[in-house]
Amino acid sequence: MKVLSVTSECAPLVKTGGLADVAGALPGALAPLGVEMRTLLPGYPKVMAAAGKAKAVWQDADLFGGPARLLAARAHGLDLLILDAPHLYDRAGGPYTDAGGADWPDNPERFAALSWVAAEIAGGALTGWQPDILHAHDWQAGLAPWYLRDRHPGSSARSILTIHNIAFQGKAGVGRLPALRLKPEGMTQEGFEFWGDISALKAGLVAADRITTVSPTYADELLTPEFGMGMDGLLRARQHDLSGILNGVDLDAWTPPYKTPAGKRRYKAQLRRAMDLPQADGPLCVVVSRLTHQKGLDLLLAALPRLIDEGGQLALLGSGDPALERAFLDAAAHPDVATRIGYDEDLAHLLIRGGDAILVPSRFEPCGLTQLYGLLNGTVPLVAHTGGLADTVIDASPAALRMGVATGLQLHPISADALSRAFDRLTALYRQPDLWLRMQKNAMRAPVGWDQSAADYKALYDGLILS
Ligand code: ADP
Ligand code: GLC
Repeated sequence: MKVLSVTSECAPLVKTGGLADVAGALPGALAPLGVEMRTLLPGYPKVMAAAGKAKAVWQDADLFGGPARLLAARAHGLDLLILDAPHLYDRAGGPYTDAGGADWPDNPERFAALSWVAAEIAGGALTGWQPDILHAHDWQAGLAPWYLRDRHPGSSARSILTIHNIAFQGKAGVGRLPALRLKPEGMTQEGFEFWGDISALKAGLVAADRITTVSPTYADELLTPEFGMGMDGLLRARQHDLSGILNGVDLDAWTPPYKTPAGKRRYKAQLRRAMDLPQADGPLCVVVSRLTHQKGLDLLLAALPRLIDEGGQLALLGSGDPALERAFLDAAAHPDVATRIGYDEDLAHLLIRGGDAILVPSRFEPCGLTQLYGLLNGTVPLVAHTGGLADTVIDASPAALRMGVATGLQLHPISADALSRAFDRLTALYRQPDLWLRMQKNAMRAPVGWDQSAADYKALYDGLILS
């Protein structure tokens, strides 16, 4: 079975968040099941550097305003199709923003071009390789199922759109219809029109044969106005085509170098040194996160005094919203709080290995990966009861503790008060070494790999091909 995965980021080549981890891990997870997955990625400078002497397998003299080629390359065990289009992707900065953090004004066109080429490939543009399935990720690939249906209605390829985060909807003003090569007839409620704008995400949600998201609970939440962000009506109408498949962890990247919680000790000491934290009686809590409203870290700021009063500590690595960055830097005036602003893969690993607990108080969380890394590393997750966080952590309720099955703590409702109370529970558990050790061991045994989810994707692909 041949699958084309279409994504705007892919670890380890280019990453801003969990989408990259998932796109980078899926091909390896699916290969043993007989799925040949190729990943279509924009040719950002870093990706082009990894391409080496790749061979051009397709070209176009005018792809959304300039010449473009597709390069077939292997890198990091991935089978890549790199869209080399310098006018769109050869820029300093991030995949979506300039060096100052401002969105590229032509993002709609940049990712429409990616989606266009995906549809061409699914329509048979490459000699000798046509996918059975076009698997698009998030709004950046949302137009791919649309272009496929519109331009290649006879193609045998079926399409799937995976929602990693419905907050990002790929909106563009109606004036951009020609630039995005979209016909005005699509500008309706049944099409890609969304509150007067074009939405690339909605185009995909309408046109894809199936829709998935990254956890069963988020799949349910998406059907409600509270979480659906305006797309809930459409998703309710397509409820039977929507399913939630949990993300897995790339075990090669995140399995700790120890087999029991005792092995964490030296990493905790190393973490204390790296972050200048003194010894303390309470749990050393860690956060590795984008600093955005989604992640609920303002709630953590409000509840932080309680953690500190109880002898706990905080080590945070993150970047994003300047106000949150500043607030965490200010909080680090306290000796038991350490903040590092930036993006640092090695430090992220050290935090997740060396911490006692990992905090993920998100307001919404489609899946969340850092709590899974925490589980695998015996770093007890304290998470909000939402989305994939709810699906992956077993709360230390009295019953779960009695049965010996707890793997972490869940926060409900998602508020600063509830987080303060959760810190009471966390520190109380930490002070009962037998219970704490049991939780750590349970966490380390929790199934966080790709096995089940890869089988679920394979079953979805199989079902679609037969339909
Ligand atoms: P999201 O995709 O919403 O950001 P996830 O939990 O799914 O959330 O994935 C976040 C990924 O990004 C994880 O791999 C996490 O380790 C990584 N990450 C987030 N912030 C940083 C940072 N400042 N430095 C290093 N890695 C980070
Ligand atoms: C998104 C979500 C996160 C999820 C990730 C990968 O960025 O915010 O919850 O884990 O995608 O699917």
